[in-house]
Amino acid sequence: MAPSAHSSVGAAPLALPLDAIAADVGTPAYVYDAATIRSAYGELDAALGRVPHALHYALKANSTLAIVRLLRELGSGADANSVGEIEVALRAGFDPASVVFTGVGKTSAELERAIVLGVKTINAESPGELQRIATLARAHGTTARVALRVNPDIDALSHPHISTGLRTNKFGVPIESARALYREAAATPGLQPTGVHVHVGSQITSLDPLTSAARRIVELVQDLREDGIALDHVDLGGGLGISYDGSRVPSLTEYAAALVDGVASTGLTLVLEPGRALVGAAGLLLTRVVDVKEYPGGPRFAILDAGMTELLRPALYGAFHGIVAVAPRSGALQPYEVVGPLCESSDIFGRDRLLPPLQPGDLVAVLDTGAYGAVMASTYNRRPLPPEVLVDEGARWRVIRRRQTIDDLLALEA
Ligand code: LLP
Repeated sequence: MAPSAHSSVGAAPLALPLDAIAADVGTPAYVYDAATIRSAYGELDAALGRVPHALHYALKANSTLAIVRLLRELGSGADANSVGEIEVALRAGFDPASVVFTGVGKTSAELERAIVLGVKTINAESPGELQRIATLARAHGTTARVALRVNPDIDALSHPHISTGLRTNKFGVPIESARALYREAAATPGLQPTGVHVHVGSQITSLDPLTSAARRIVELVQDLREDGIALDHVDLGGGLGISYDGSRVPSLTEYAAALVDGVASTGLTLVLEPGRALVGAAGLLLTRVVDVKEYPGGPRFAILDAGMTELLRPALYGAFHGIVAVAPRSGALQPYEVVGPLCESSDIFGRDRLLPPLQPGDLVAVLDTGAYGAVMASTYNRRPLPPEVLVDEGARWRVIRRRQTIDDLLALEA
């Protein structure tokens, strides 16, 4: 696959040995392509080459251990959004010093764990959180490195559920109050402000919101310098979108170039927390047609063995994912409602999709599901979580997470 996010979406994973994988692990199953992840990471890292930078992969996008380890081996740091994600990062071999800790509602127990471990930075979301961090750090006789998450009041122009940079969103502190809060933090024993953080949303397909946010942050950094507060990094979060429907989105190279221009003048390290842009196009959900039904004058349904339990994005955001037959039958394309087996009418992967004739047993792939796919799966309707398979070096593949069993599912119950 060409190393840019706007080339043919999901094409590389489709070349994987899907028949053999389905025969071995069954369906539904997530299948990931290591080469696609390597190429995305390599493209972004190279494009940032001329400024000091650190990529902290956003674990929330896909935190299966083998994927997290792959990113670590590529040289990435980690962005954790809960103490669970911090523990995953540690088990994947990350040094605490390469983990940033974000999240709008960190509990005191979570903060304490991060402080004791000595993570690279805690991205604090409020004055109250700064105070809690200071108190905990002093109690442990240490100083916590913090960055303040600033809310720049910028519309990411993405889906409202995943836009986070408006004043009305719950995230961060208004940029106007940031300068005073930094002065206060710098004077507070137990706190060492080392960076500034912003993240205006996810699946952002125009560079403008990202560059506007960067501009405002750079102004803040300059103000802080005048106040004698010297930071070491600017963390611009994640957010770059991928093309789910083939429309053009900025490539990783264009994204990097746009951000580097703004931040280079500060001389600070540019930190990014990309998730989707690194792993989204590397995965597909492999599923089988269970039933096909058609009513006179009504739609034709293809019912799959995967649904909103395995992939929530279409039901939750109305998100579009490409859907293809793995071994297309000959015959005219026909419109299908591609749906899951759950007892909800929102359990639809695609409406009115033109597909070759489908029959029960056919393999279908739901594309670009490497990010926010498996991690958002649930066991609703007592459906065990699907297995995950990582393909590497052409056709070599291994199960990186086995299918959950009914016994696993019930193991916690009395
Ligand atoms: N940093 C912070 C502070 C974040 O909140 C997020 C994502 C990221 C980095 C990574 O963003 P990315 O590069 O992946 O856009 N479940 C939704 C996406 C939620 C994103 C939440 N925060 C979806 O399926 O589209």
